[in-house]
Amino acid sequence: MKTMGRTKIVDVLKSEAFGTTVNVKGWVRTRRGSKQVSFIALNDGSTINNVQIVVDVEKFGEDFLKPVTTGACISVNGLLVQSQGQGQNAEIQATEIEIYGTADPVAYPLQKKGHSMEFLREIAHLRPRTNTFGAIFRLRHHMAIAIHKFFHDRGFFYFHTPIITGSDCEGAGLMFQVTTMNINNPERSEDGQVNYENDFFGKETGLTVSGQLEGELAAMALGAIYTFGPTFRAENSNTPRHLAEFWMIEPEVAFNEIAENMQLAEDFIKYCIQWALDNCMDDIRFLNDMFDKGLIERLQGVMKHDFIRLTYTEGIRILEEAVAGGHKFEFPIYWGADLASEHERYLVEAHFKRPVILTDYPKEIKSFYMKQNEDGKTVRAMDVLFPKIGEIIGGSQREEDYDKLCTRADEMGVPRKDMWWYLDTRRFGTAPHSGFGLGFERLLLFVTGMSNIRDVIPFPRTPNNAEF
Ligand code: 4AD
Ligand code: MG
Repeated sequence: MKTMGRTKIVDVLKSEAFGTTVNVKGWVRTRRGSKQVSFIALNDGSTINNVQIVVDVEKFGEDFLKPVTTGACISVNGLLVQSQGQGQNAEIQATEIEIYGTADPVAYPLQKKGHSMEFLREIAHLRPRTNTFGAIFRLRHHMAIAIHKFFHDRGFFYFHTPIITGSDCEGAGLMFQVTTMNINNPERSEDGQVNYENDFFGKETGLTVSGQLEGELAAMALGAIYTFGPTFRAENSNTPRHLAEFWMIEPEVAFNEIAENMQLAEDFIKYCIQWALDNCMDDIRFLNDMFDKGLIERLQGVMKHDFIRLTYTEGIRILEEAVAGGHKFEFPIYWGADLASEHERYLVEAHFKRPVILTDYPKEIKSFYMKQNEDGKTVRAMDVLFPKIGEIIGGSQREEDYDKLCTRADEMGVPRKDMWWYLDTRRFGTAPHSGFGLGFERLLLFVTGMSNIRDVIPFPRTPNNAEF
């Protein structure tokens, strides 16, 4: 077969160089046709759209074409011609075909028929080859690029925080342990406790639950930073919104107070959604038509209005009124309760019909580092609540006062001796500052319209599931 430079299918479909010869390579989605002519729908992942390859059966021979079945990988040289069919601009009349790899139709699990999302999770090694997951993973890429661009354009520095850490930032005790000790027979001190002094790091360590604390150190020097990295939580909650391994984006800005933090969060999410609408419309349209007829409308809807800003106390009042009016929630609602996603979604979907930023939560249900309000009861927390998702962002203004921070750490059982470096920022040149964390997969749930978080990350990690 004549070697020539490969053209990606995304470019072939846009090309008007009819009459020239091109080479495409990709995986066969379908092959159909008659004794005379065969039509191959070929996809190379560069776009959701397939290019049609028109094959003269007599020229190539039925035996040669027999293994060109769904899932096979081929390289095709051919003439680019204007498509007769509707929708597509260009198709290719094959002159030469090389078969790179066949896919036995009996064994290959991705045949034409629609598969359930549950089944596709079991074959996560092959699901990127489906239209749905191709669309999702292209969107995932575009959102990552949008995030870097948003912050870079605004003078934020991308800062790398450690993945292995000795501090449990959120203080929720959800860390996965990291050790090289023999867990069947760990070294113990005289009191019977495991002795970590001879462990790899000479202390107890785990996978990070958040890069925030280290991010704050950087914000106190570089002014405005963001992290974007993997985050781990041994949260035994089997919900459609939780992963044990997820990606988080955490901006942290010196001198920002809570109002500026809220505005940054709103601008940031809107920028990402606009980016998706501007750059990923083929994929979004596919997901809209296949799964979620309201997707495009929901994405455009978020862009139209300012997010509601509301205190937790006002939020509770609205929820209590809903209960008084006959609305049933699974979990009880009262001042001091941690909101469940049903409560968050009630505020967003039923009451305001747009995203809500809830602030000033009771200090008991939030982390030790949040700035304490004058009332002595609440802290300057902010959660951004989204339709269909619930909490998409969690953040706060930080407590910059050394004594107040130490007192709160003690009250909440956060060991000061492990946090000396964090507390030092409040001893040396402390400043008001704020930040937040966006769950990358929660953003992707919103942008793709998927209903389970396991379907927006290539290889989900959840309780009892670490295959692939
Ligand atoms: O609200 P969280 O726990 O906040 C923090 O970690 C702060 N340190 C962030 C900061 O202020 N810099 O988590 C932030 C976001 C949540 O709003 C949610 O979107 C996502 O991270 N998230 C998860 N996503 C998937 N699976 C999980 N188990 C998640 N836990 C949190
Ligand atoms: Mg939170």
